[in-house]
Amino acid sequence: MKLIHTIEDLQRNLTEARAKGEKIGLVPTMGALHEGHASLVRRCVAENDVTVVSVFLNPTQFNDKKDLEKYPRTLDADCVLLESVGADFVFAPSVEEMYPEPDSRKFSYPPVDTVMEGAFRPGHFNGVCQIVSKLFAIVEPGRAYFGEKDFQQIAVIRAMV
Ligand code: PAF
Repeated sequence: MKLIHTIEDLQRNLTEARAKGEKIGLVPTMGALHEGHASLVRRCVAENDVTVVSVFLNPTQFNDKKDLEKYPRTLDADCVLLESVGADFVFAPSVEEMYPEPDSRKFSYPPVDTVMEGAFRPGHFNGVCQIVSKLFAIVEPGRAYFGEKDFQQIAVIRAMV
């Protein structure tokens, strides 16, 4: 398993895999991984030739900055878990790498993103779409895996795709 911090390095590795005809799967995460994430990674490993797990605490989806400050950062432990379930690449970029300039893109999929959690966390799903669209553009996965616990998030991402 390789730990990668830059887009350029990740894309170089993935270009090599793609040239060999390998199928690439992506599991986006914000770290602090647990068994739920492990099960997504196991499924990704079973269904693809190359599994990329992103570990990025995305600031744009936190409408309450205190929640962002409190969020656990456990990259070393995350890597131990990811290696044990067979991930090939852990992509853990810095905020500057993912947002060299502020992302002003607006994503809007009413009513999917405006009801329930969307009504209580303004801007949250916009931030999720910003980061997930960037990850999709960088990794170009054939498949991506998201926890069903965040059911509304999946619906928003489906709308975006
Ligand atoms: O579900 C999460 O952990 C995050 O919202 C995601 C999809 C990794 C985007 O930051």
